[in-house]
Amino acid sequence: MNLLTKAARGTQDVLPADSYKWQFVQDIMLKEAELYGFKEIRTPAFEHTELFDRGVGDDTDIVQKEMYTFNDKAGRSLTLKPEGTVAAVRAVLEHGLLNDGIPLKLTYITPCYRYEKPQSGRYREFFQFGVETFGAASPAADAEIICLATTLFERLGISNLSLEINSIGCPECRQAYRGALKKFFEKHREKLCSTCTDRLEKNPMRIVDCKNLECQKIVEDAPNIIDFLCEDCEQHFKDVKNYLSESKIDYKINPKIVRGLDYYTRTVFEFVSSSDSNRSLVCGGGGRYDGLIEEIGGPATPAVGFGIGIERLILLMQSQGIEIPKPKRCDIFIATADKTAQTKALHLAKTLRESSFYAEIDIVERSLKTQLKYADKINAKFLLVLGEKEFSEKKAEMKNMASGEKFIINLDNDFLTKTKNILSD
Ligand code: HAM
Repeated sequence: MNLLTKAARGTQDVLPADSYKWQFVQDIMLKEAELYGFKEIRTPAFEHTELFDRGVGDDTDIVQKEMYTFNDKAGRSLTLKPEGTVAAVRAVLEHGLLNDGIPLKLTYITPCYRYEKPQSGRYREFFQFGVETFGAASPAADAEIICLATTLFERLGISNLSLEINSIGCPECRQAYRGALKKFFEKHREKLCSTCTDRLEKNPMRIVDCKNLECQKIVEDAPNIIDFLCEDCEQHFKDVKNYLSESKIDYKINPKIVRGLDYYTRTVFEFVSSSDSNRSLVCGGGGRYDGLIEEIGGPATPAVGFGIGIERLILLMQSQGIEIPKPKRCDIFIATADKTAQTKALHLAKTLRESSFYAEIDIVERSLKTQLKYADKINAKFLLVLGEKEFSEKKAEMKNMASGEKFIINLDNDFLTKTKNILSD
């Protein structure tokens, strides 16, 4: 295999034929987040490995199996971000953003890296859109986040997504749950995968999230955390559900959702595609993480957020036949018969581009005939041909490529006004 011309496994190029879809989706996401008061944050592609060990959790699949970790030349252990939340938390603490007042609302679009088995919708490099609200413990914050995610999917025209929610309580509720889980899994120890036998002692809740099919079968009959919630957590969950119902957001309770990252507390949720071809694709997920900021060394601060995989979103839109507006078409191609005309064409194109028209000129020295063919190929709306004759007469012909209609344009001062009028019509 020629490695020089092959992208690394699990990564993909976004080619010009598709990049407009990304621009469209990202634009909608950032604009919608803005309406909810989220401001963009950009964090580096890599962080100190300890941050993810501590933040995402030592016992998670991500930390145990999926991180891209390397030593830099000074021998520091660094890791390519496997997700966006922990890096955002690190930046919030480093820059004291919580001192500016709460709630602090951040959004981001970031590349993430996980060493997973690549398949459709699962990559080793993928992009996450995420939002995080810091400093709000109220169930209204959970509901607001879920409401934003729901609206985003709606704005993108996506249907057949079901919202599944659960509450995984606080450390207090978990204590009793851990005991019950341990007792249950102990009975099935022989059948668990080797990673889960290790988890049995340290973190049995992680077994509930194991991707191994044998383990998943056992998990079906395992006790559910929702039956172990303390009074406060139960009330919080009840309130979240009330907010959702009041906002007419449909949801389903899935007591098996525990999420693949250790930092979650209380509300957790996932948006699952229920269309036939993408039966079990989770397009987005998130939840509350009230203990994470303290875990990373900051003050006790409640927080809630979610992440959506952009690749999965676009795949889903394509599978549902959702039309994404095509990129802007070339407004005008200025064809030139000689070098003098070409020099002037650049200036005319510059003038039109300054007024936000999409103008093209010949930059590969094609013959006039081939330039006309090229204008056709790129589907230019108008064609303007310039040569010695046009400049000596100070006027040229502009043609509507679709209708064939022709307009005479003066090449002097009112070139811009007249051309703009025709192009805008
Ligand atoms: P996550 O569920 O691990 O959560 O990832 C969020 C989304 O990223 C997934 O729902 C999926 O769409 C996408 N995703 C995950 N792995 C891959 C992959 N290998 N290839 C393509 N897409 C993928 C988080 O990462 C949390 N940080 C979300 C969050 C934000 N929770 C609170 N705030």
